[in-house]
Amino acid sequence: MPNFDRLFPSIAKMMAAALLLASSGTVMAADHQDTPIEKGRQLFTESAGETGCAVCHGETAVGNPDTGAPFIQGISRARLNAALTGAVPAMEYFKLNRGDTDAIFEFLQYMSHAEDLVLNEDAAAGKEIFDKTAGGVGCQACHGADGSGDSAPDIRGRDARAILDQLRRNENMEFIKLNRKQVDQVAAYLDYLHALETH
Ligand code: HEC
Ligand code: HEC
Repeated sequence: MPNFDRLFPSIAKMMAAALLLASSGTVMAADHQDTPIEKGRQLFTESAGETGCAVCHGETAVGNPDTGAPFIQGISRARLNAALTGAVPAMEYFKLNRGDTDAIFEFLQYMSHAEDLVLNEDAAAGKEIFDKTAGGVGCQACHGADGSGDSAPDIRGRDARAILDQLRRNENMEFIKLNRKQVDQVAAYLDYLHALETH
């Protein structure tokens, strides 16, 4: 490990805090390493070069003005490789192999979509409507459990306008009554299903 006290006193303090956290066991344990994303998360948050990357870039790779480490979610492979092979002096001590770099790349890609993949409050309410309550059967009865289509077309990613339009003029969907708020909630859930599909 490099001498952080000399390099950056403020980082040395953060690292001490991170090590304390790690030893107290509150940092995620390394037991889900089966996917590249999980392996990358582990390397990024804890183990790469003994320090991990999060100590400077933040747990979710959004960057940290205190360390000068930038936002790097979704960064290109070329820039990641350059940064890890000497382009960034603060990071020169990392000697990662190809597999580790690939895993970190996957994790950073994943983080750039992660917000879409969280079922937020609206989307969760939309899921209830989609699965069960719309017209007493849910949208899924015709559009399939994941919205990818069944007797009716794939509607993942359709927006509120498209839904309102169908509710107004599609005879198959005439029996469904939703207020504007519910339409927005279903649209949020269709967004989520779309994010799952493209992720
Ligand atoms: C000691 C603090 C520190 C650690 C630990 C660290 N970085 Fe950095 N990183 C920086 C700083 C500071 C910069 C910005 C350098 C600059 O702008 O010249 C940077 C820049 C980068 C960039 C370049 C972004 C761009 O715009 O091209 C990438 C990619 C990157 N880091 C990835 C990583 C990864 C992956 C790890 C872990 C393996 C890591 N960093 C660990 C401090 C750190
Ligand atoms: C009883 C079956 C049924 C149910 C339930 C149903 N739909 Fe549909 N929906 C259809 C059919 C059939 C079409 C295709 C109509 C056409 O092609 O003219 C369609 C079309 C759509 C479209 C337009 C598709 C496109 O490609 O633009 C949207 C959006 C849509 N539905 C949303 C919903 C939502 C949201 C719900 C639940 C709130 C729902 N539907 C419930 C049968 C259904």
